[in-house]
Amino acid sequence: MKQAFRVAVIGCGAICGNHIQGLLSAEQQICALCDVDLSQCERIMEKYGLPDLPVYTDYLQLLDAERPDAVHICTPHYLHAEMTVAALERGIHVLCEKPMAISHEQLDRVLAAAKRSTAQLGVCMQNRYEPTILRAKELAQSEGIRAAYGDVVWKRDADYYASGDWRGTWREEGGGVMINQALHTLDLLQWICGMPERVVAHIANDHLPGVIEVEDTAVAHFSCPNGSSFHFFATTACGATFPAHLRFYLNSKKKLHAEASQLILDGEVLFSKSSGDAHGKAVWGAGHTLLISDFYRCIGEGIPFPIHGEEAAKVIRLILAMYGSNGAPISL
Ligand SMILES: NC(=O)c1ccc[n+]([C@@H]2O[C@H](COP(=O)([O-])OP(=O)(O)OC[C@H]3O[C@@H](n4cnc5c(N)ncnc54)[C@H](O)[C@@H]3O)[C@@H](O)[C@H]2O)c1
Repeated sequence: MKQAFRVAVIGCGAICGNHIQGLLSAEQQICALCDVDLSQCERIMEKYGLPDLPVYTDYLQLLDAERPDAVHICTPHYLHAEMTVAALERGIHVLCEKPMAISHEQLDRVLAAAKRSTAQLGVCMQNRYEPTILRAKELAQSEGIRAAYGDVVWKRDADYYASGDWRGTWREEGGGVMINQALHTLDLLQWICGMPERVVAHIANDHLPGVIEVEDTAVAHFSCPNGSSFHFFATTACGATFPAHLRFYLNSKKKLHAEASQLILDGEVLFSKSSGDAHGKAVWGAGHTLLISDFYRCIGEGIPFPIHGEEAAKVIRLILAMYGSNGAPISL
Protein backbone atom coordinates (compact mmCIF):
# COMPACT_ATOMS: atom_id res chain seq x y z
CA MET A 1 0.00 0.00 0.00
CA LYS A 2 1.14 3.55 -0.80
CA GLN A 3 2.48 5.51 2.17
CA ALA A 4 0.43 8.64 2.98
CA PHE A 5 2.37 11.63 4.30
CA ARG A 6 0.86 14.50 6.30
CA VAL A 7 1.13 17.52 4.02
CA ALA A 8 0.41 21.22 4.60
CA VAL A 9 -0.02 23.80 1.86
CA ILE A 10 1.18 27.38 2.35
CA GLY A 11 -0.41 29.95 0.01
CA CYS A 12 -3.94 29.22 -1.16
CA GLY A 13 -4.15 31.45 -4.26
CA ALA A 14 -4.37 30.64 -7.96
CA ILE A 15 -1.92 27.70 -8.20
CA CYS A 16 -2.92 26.07 -4.90
CA GLY A 17 -5.71 24.06 -6.56
CA ASN A 18 -3.19 22.25 -8.78
CA HIS A 19 -1.34 21.14 -5.64
CA ILE A 20 -4.52 20.04 -3.88
CA GLN A 21 -5.56 18.02 -6.92
CA GLY A 22 -2.09 16.50 -7.18
CA LEU A 23 -2.09 15.57 -3.47
CA LEU A 24 -5.55 14.03 -3.66
CA SER A 25 -4.58 12.09 -6.75
CA ALA A 26 -1.36 10.88 -5.05
CA GLU A 27 -3.46 9.85 -2.00
CA GLN A 28 -1.53 12.02 0.44
CA GLN A 29 -3.14 13.41 3.59
CA ILE A 30 -3.67 17.18 3.50
CA CYS A 31 -3.37 18.15 7.18
CA ALA A 32 -3.43 21.98 7.27
CA LEU A 33 -3.57 25.12 5.13
CA CYS A 34 -1.98 28.53 5.56
CA ASP A 35 -2.68 31.89 3.95
CA VAL A 36 -2.48 35.43 5.26
CA ASP A 37 -6.01 35.73 3.88
CA LEU A 38 -8.00 32.99 5.65
CA SER A 39 -10.85 33.30 3.15
CA GLN A 40 -8.48 31.70 0.63
CA CYS A 41 -8.14 28.62 2.86
CA GLU A 42 -11.94 28.44 3.17
CA ARG A 43 -12.27 28.75 -0.61
CA ILE A 44 -9.90 25.83 -1.17
CA MET A 45 -11.58 23.57 1.42
CA GLU A 46 -14.97 24.25 -0.11
CA LYS A 47 -13.88 23.93 -3.73
CA TYR A 48 -12.13 20.57 -3.21
CA GLY A 49 -14.54 19.16 -0.61
CA LEU A 50 -11.81 18.93 2.03
CA PRO A 51 -12.71 18.23 5.68
CA ASP A 52 -12.52 21.11 8.16
CA LEU A 53 -8.73 21.48 8.32
CA PRO A 54 -6.66 23.51 10.78
CA VAL A 55 -5.88 26.85 9.12
CA TYR A 56 -3.14 29.37 9.90
CA THR A 57 -2.16 32.87 8.86
CA ASP A 58 1.41 32.39 10.18
CA TYR A 59 3.38 29.64 8.45
CA LEU A 60 5.85 29.28 11.33
CA GLN A 61 2.99 28.52 13.71
CA LEU A 62 1.74 25.92 11.27
CA LEU A 63 5.16 24.26 11.00
CA ASP A 64 5.60 24.11 14.78
CA ALA A 65 2.04 23.17 15.73
CA GLU A 66 1.32 20.63 13.00
CA ARG A 67 4.81 19.23 12.37
CA PRO A 68 3.77 18.02 8.89
CA ASP A 69 5.93 15.55 6.98
CA ALA A 70 5.96 17.92 3.99
CA VAL A 71 4.86 21.39 2.93
CA HIS A 72 3.99 22.79 -0.46
CA ILE A 73 4.99 26.45 -0.84
CA CYS A 74 2.64 28.31 -3.19
CA THR A 75 3.25 31.89 -2.08
CA PRO A 76 4.64 34.95 -3.93
CA HIS A 77 8.24 34.56 -5.11
CA TYR A 78 10.02 36.65 -2.48
CA LEU A 79 8.76 34.34 0.31
CA HIS A 80 9.98 31.05 -1.18
CA ALA A 81 13.50 31.15 0.24
CA GLU A 82 12.62 32.01 3.85
CA MET A 83 9.74 29.51 3.95
CA THR A 84 11.83 26.74 2.37
CA VAL A 85 14.70 27.29 4.80
CA ALA A 86 12.36 27.32 7.83
CA ALA A 87 10.77 24.01 6.82
CA LEU A 88 14.05 22.29 5.89
CA GLU A 89 15.60 23.36 9.21
CA ARG A 90 12.74 21.52 10.96
CA GLY A 91 13.34 18.37 8.91
CA ILE A 92 10.14 18.94 6.90
CA HIS A 93 10.20 18.00 3.19
CA VAL A 94 9.50 20.93 0.84
CA LEU A 95 7.89 21.07 -2.56
CA CYS A 96 8.34 24.72 -3.53
CA GLU A 97 6.67 26.42 -6.47
CA LYS A 98 9.01 27.96 -8.99
CA PRO A 99 11.14 30.04 -8.79
CA MET A 100 13.02 28.53 -5.84
CA ALA A 101 14.75 31.90 -5.28
CA ILE A 102 14.95 35.37 -6.83
CA SER A 103 18.53 36.36 -5.96
CA HIS A 104 21.96 34.74 -5.61
CA GLU A 105 21.85 35.41 -1.89
CA GLN A 106 18.51 33.55 -1.53
CA LEU A 107 19.77 30.75 -3.75
CA ASP A 108 22.84 30.22 -1.57
CA ARG A 109 20.75 30.20 1.61
CA VAL A 110 18.28 27.64 0.23
CA LEU A 111 21.00 25.35 -1.15
CA ALA A 112 22.92 25.46 2.13
CA ALA A 113 19.75 24.61 4.09
CA ALA A 114 18.96 21.75 1.71
CA LYS A 115 22.47 20.36 2.17
CA ARG A 116 22.18 20.47 5.97
CA SER A 117 18.64 19.08 6.16
CA THR A 118 17.54 15.48 6.56
CA ALA A 119 14.49 16.41 4.45
CA GLN A 120 14.19 16.69 0.66
CA LEU A 121 13.71 19.87 -1.36
CA GLY A 122 11.81 19.58 -4.63
CA VAL A 123 10.92 22.42 -6.97
CA CYS A 124 7.75 22.47 -9.02
CA MET A 125 8.97 22.58 -12.62
CA GLN A 126 6.28 20.24 -13.83
CA ASN A 127 6.92 20.61 -17.56
CA ARG A 128 9.83 18.20 -17.18
CA TYR A 129 7.17 15.50 -16.75
CA GLU A 130 5.34 16.20 -20.01
CA PRO A 131 5.45 13.19 -22.37
CA THR A 132 6.17 15.46 -25.38
CA ILE A 133 9.20 16.91 -23.63
CA LEU A 134 10.50 13.54 -22.48
CA ARG A 135 10.37 12.26 -26.05
CA ALA A 136 11.97 15.43 -27.42
CA LYS A 137 14.78 15.13 -24.88
CA GLU A 138 15.46 11.50 -25.69
CA LEU A 139 15.45 12.09 -29.45
CA ALA A 140 17.48 15.32 -29.41
CA GLN A 141 20.11 13.94 -27.05
CA SER A 142 20.47 10.66 -28.93
CA GLU A 143 20.95 12.43 -32.29
CA GLY A 144 23.01 15.34 -30.89
CA ILE A 145 22.11 19.04 -30.97
CA ARG A 146 23.85 21.72 -33.08
CA ALA A 147 21.56 24.63 -32.25
CA ALA A 148 18.28 25.23 -30.48
CA TYR A 149 15.69 27.90 -29.93
CA GLY A 150 12.87 28.44 -27.44
CA ASP A 151 10.08 30.98 -27.27
CA VAL A 152 7.27 31.98 -24.97
CA VAL A 153 4.79 34.48 -26.43
CA TRP A 154 1.97 35.22 -24.01
CA LYS A 155 -0.48 37.94 -23.09
CA ARG A 156 -0.39 39.45 -19.60
CA ASP A 157 -2.16 42.80 -19.33
CA ALA A 158 -2.63 45.39 -16.59
CA ASP A 159 -5.54 43.43 -15.07
CA TYR A 160 -3.30 40.42 -14.55
CA TYR A 161 -0.74 42.53 -12.66
CA ALA A 162 -3.49 44.10 -10.58
CA SER A 163 -4.43 40.60 -9.32
CA GLY A 164 -1.58 40.62 -6.75
CA ASP A 165 0.52 43.45 -5.26
CA TRP A 166 3.65 41.32 -5.57
CA ARG A 167 3.35 40.93 -9.32
CA GLY A 168 5.37 43.17 -11.60
CA THR A 169 7.83 44.23 -8.86
CA TRP A 170 11.57 43.53 -8.63
CA ARG A 171 11.40 43.18 -4.85
CA GLU A 172 8.58 40.63 -4.62
CA GLU A 173 8.23 38.95 -8.03
CA GLY A 174 11.97 39.23 -8.68
CA GLY A 175 11.54 39.91 -12.39
CA GLY A 176 8.91 39.62 -15.08
CA VAL A 177 8.39 37.28 -17.99
CA MET A 178 11.68 35.41 -17.40
CA ILE A 179 11.42 34.57 -13.69
CA ASN A 180 7.70 33.89 -13.94
CA GLN A 181 6.15 32.72 -17.22
CA ALA A 182 9.21 31.75 -19.33
CA LEU A 183 11.25 30.02 -16.59
CA HIS A 184 9.77 26.62 -17.48
CA THR A 185 10.69 26.78 -21.17
CA LEU A 186 14.22 28.07 -20.53
CA ASP A 187 14.64 25.30 -17.96
CA LEU A 188 13.64 22.70 -20.56
CA LEU A 189 16.10 24.12 -23.08
CA GLN A 190 19.02 23.90 -20.65
CA TRP A 191 17.81 20.48 -19.43
CA ILE A 192 17.94 19.16 -22.98
CA CYS A 193 20.91 21.15 -24.38
CA GLY A 194 23.07 21.22 -21.24
CA MET A 195 24.12 24.10 -19.03
CA PRO A 196 25.65 26.92 -21.13
CA GLU A 197 28.87 28.70 -20.16
CA ARG A 198 28.02 32.18 -21.45
CA VAL A 199 24.97 34.39 -22.02
CA VAL A 200 24.33 37.71 -23.75
CA ALA A 201 20.84 39.10 -23.11
CA HIS A 202 18.59 42.14 -23.38
CA ILE A 203 15.45 42.81 -21.40
CA ALA A 204 12.81 45.51 -21.91
CA ASN A 205 9.44 46.73 -20.70
CA ASP A 206 7.89 48.47 -23.67
CA HIS A 207 4.32 47.34 -23.16
CA LEU A 208 3.36 48.27 -19.60
CA PRO A 209 5.69 51.04 -18.38
CA GLY A 210 4.09 52.69 -15.36
CA VAL A 211 2.21 49.44 -14.61
CA ILE A 212 5.12 47.06 -13.98
CA GLU A 213 8.76 47.70 -13.03
CA VAL A 214 10.02 44.41 -14.42
CA GLU A 215 10.71 43.18 -17.96
CA ASP A 216 7.87 42.08 -20.22
CA THR A 217 10.24 41.04 -23.04
CA ALA A 218 13.61 39.31 -23.10
CA VAL A 219 15.99 37.92 -25.69
CA ALA A 220 19.12 35.88 -25.01
CA HIS A 221 21.89 33.94 -26.71
CA PHE A 222 23.50 31.10 -24.75
CA SER A 223 26.81 29.43 -25.71
CA CYS A 224 27.50 25.86 -24.61
CA PRO A 225 30.93 24.38 -23.83
CA ASN A 226 30.69 21.91 -26.77
CA GLY A 227 30.41 24.76 -29.32
CA SER A 228 26.63 24.53 -29.78
CA SER A 229 24.35 27.38 -28.80
CA PHE A 230 20.73 28.19 -28.09
CA HIS A 231 18.57 31.28 -28.41
CA PHE A 232 15.59 32.33 -26.36
CA PHE A 233 12.82 34.85 -26.81
CA ALA A 234 10.05 35.61 -24.32
CA THR A 235 7.35 38.23 -24.07
CA THR A 236 4.09 38.78 -22.23
CA ALA A 237 3.39 41.86 -24.38
CA CYS A 238 1.61 39.95 -27.18
CA GLY A 239 -2.12 40.41 -27.73
CA ALA A 240 -2.63 36.64 -27.43
CA THR A 241 -1.14 33.62 -25.66
CA PHE A 242 0.49 30.98 -27.87
CA PRO A 243 1.92 27.60 -26.88
CA ALA A 244 5.59 27.75 -25.90
CA HIS A 245 7.93 26.26 -28.52
CA LEU A 246 11.23 24.43 -28.45
CA ARG A 247 13.12 23.83 -31.70
CA PHE A 248 16.27 21.78 -32.21
CA TYR A 249 18.62 21.54 -35.19
CA LEU A 250 20.10 18.08 -34.81
CA ASN A 251 23.49 16.72 -35.91
CA SER A 252 21.57 14.64 -38.46
CA LYS A 253 20.46 18.03 -39.96
CA LYS A 254 16.86 17.20 -39.05
CA LYS A 255 14.69 19.80 -37.35
CA LEU A 256 12.73 18.83 -34.26
CA HIS A 257 9.86 21.02 -33.10
CA ALA A 258 8.26 20.45 -29.67
CA GLU A 259 5.31 22.14 -28.06
CA ALA A 260 2.85 21.04 -25.39
CA SER A 261 0.58 19.20 -27.78
CA GLN A 262 2.90 17.77 -30.40
CA LEU A 263 6.34 16.74 -31.52
CA ILE A 264 7.30 17.13 -35.18
CA LEU A 265 10.47 15.86 -36.87
CA ASP A 266 11.09 17.34 -40.35
CA GLY A 267 7.33 17.73 -40.92
CA GLU A 268 6.39 14.28 -39.60
CA VAL A 269 4.18 14.29 -36.50
CA LEU A 270 5.81 11.88 -34.05
CA PHE A 271 3.48 12.52 -31.15
CA SER A 272 0.22 14.39 -30.74
CA LYS A 273 -1.93 14.97 -27.68
CA SER A 274 -5.71 15.34 -27.89
CA SER A 275 -6.87 18.74 -29.09
CA GLY A 276 -8.75 19.04 -25.77
CA ASP A 277 -5.51 20.15 -24.08
CA ALA A 278 -5.89 23.86 -23.52
CA HIS A 279 -3.30 26.55 -24.16
CA GLY A 280 -2.62 29.48 -21.88
CA LYS A 281 -2.49 28.57 -18.21
CA ALA A 282 -3.03 24.87 -18.89
CA VAL A 283 -0.56 24.98 -21.77
CA TRP A 284 1.59 22.13 -20.46
CA GLY A 285 -1.17 19.76 -19.39
CA ALA A 286 -1.22 17.62 -16.26
CA GLY A 287 2.37 18.12 -15.12
CA HIS A 288 1.62 19.09 -11.52
CA THR A 289 -0.14 15.80 -10.83
CA LEU A 290 2.70 13.77 -12.36
CA LEU A 291 5.36 15.73 -10.49
CA ILE A 292 3.60 15.58 -7.11
CA SER A 293 3.07 11.85 -7.44
CA ASP A 294 6.77 11.38 -8.23
CA PHE A 295 7.81 13.62 -5.32
CA TYR A 296 6.00 11.38 -2.81
CA ARG A 297 7.21 8.22 -4.55
CA CYS A 298 10.80 9.43 -4.09
CA ILE A 299 10.28 10.40 -0.46
CA GLY A 300 8.53 7.10 0.25
CA GLU A 301 11.34 5.11 -1.36
CA GLY A 302 14.04 7.30 0.20
CA ILE A 303 15.56 8.24 -3.16
CA PRO A 304 16.42 11.77 -4.37
CA PHE A 305 13.66 13.64 -6.17
CA PRO A 306 15.12 14.57 -9.60
CA ILE A 307 14.25 18.31 -9.51
CA HIS A 308 16.16 18.99 -6.31
CA GLY A 309 17.70 22.31 -5.24
CA GLU A 310 20.92 22.15 -7.30
CA GLU A 311 18.97 21.08 -10.38
CA ALA A 312 16.35 23.83 -10.01
CA ALA A 313 19.07 26.40 -9.33
CA LYS A 314 20.42 26.08 -12.89
CA VAL A 315 17.60 28.03 -14.54
CA ILE A 316 17.69 30.65 -11.78
CA ARG A 317 21.40 31.21 -12.50
CA LEU A 318 20.60 31.62 -16.21
CA ILE A 319 17.83 34.12 -15.53
CA LEU A 320 19.88 36.16 -13.04
CA ALA A 321 22.69 36.27 -15.62
CA MET A 322 20.19 37.49 -18.25
CA TYR A 323 19.11 40.25 -15.86
CA GLY A 324 22.74 41.25 -15.30
CA SER A 325 23.85 41.16 -18.93
CA ASN A 326 22.43 44.32 -20.51
CA GLY A 327 23.97 43.27 -23.84
CA ALA A 328 27.37 42.27 -22.40
CA PRO A 329 28.56 38.65 -22.16
CA ILE A 330 28.20 37.03 -18.74
CA SER A 331 30.09 33.84 -17.84
CA LEU A 332 28.10 31.22 -15.96
N1 LIG B 1 4.32 25.78 -11.82
C1 LIG B 1 3.52 26.59 -12.51
O1 LIG B 1 3.26 26.39 -13.70
C2 LIG B 1 2.92 27.79 -11.83
C3 LIG B 1 1.78 28.41 -12.36
C4 LIG B 1 1.26 29.51 -11.67
C5 LIG B 1 1.89 29.98 -10.52
N2 LIG B 1 3.02 29.38 -10.08
C6 LIG B 1 3.75 29.89 -8.91
O2 LIG B 1 2.97 29.70 -7.75
C7 LIG B 1 3.25 30.73 -6.80
C8 LIG B 1 1.97 31.41 -6.41
O3 LIG B 1 1.37 31.95 -7.56
P1 LIG B 1 -0.20 32.27 -7.62
O4 LIG B 1 -0.49 32.63 -9.03
O5 LIG B 1 -0.95 31.19 -6.94
O6 LIG B 1 -0.24 33.61 -6.72
P2 LIG B 1 -1.47 34.21 -5.92
O7 LIG B 1 -1.13 35.62 -5.64
O8 LIG B 1 -2.74 33.88 -6.61
O9 LIG B 1 -1.46 33.35 -4.56
C9 LIG B 1 -0.51 33.54 -3.56
C10 LIG B 1 -1.19 33.31 -2.21
O10 LIG B 1 -0.20 33.39 -1.19
C11 LIG B 1 -0.78 34.08 -0.10
N3 LIG B 1 0.27 34.66 0.75
C12 LIG B 1 0.95 35.82 0.56
N4 LIG B 1 1.82 36.01 1.57
C13 LIG B 1 1.69 34.95 2.40
C14 LIG B 1 2.32 34.56 3.63
N5 LIG B 1 3.27 35.33 4.19
N6 LIG B 1 1.93 33.41 4.21
C15 LIG B 1 0.95 32.64 3.67
N7 LIG B 1 0.31 32.96 2.49
C16 LIG B 1 0.69 34.09 1.90
C17 LIG B 1 -1.67 35.13 -0.74
O11 LIG B 1 -2.67 35.62 0.17
C18 LIG B 1 -2.27 34.34 -1.90
O12 LIG B 1 -3.48 33.71 -1.56
C19 LIG B 1 4.26 31.64 -7.50
O13 LIG B 1 5.54 31.24 -7.14
C20 LIG B 1 4.04 31.37 -8.97
O14 LIG B 1 5.17 31.65 -9.80
C21 LIG B 1 3.53 28.30 -10.71
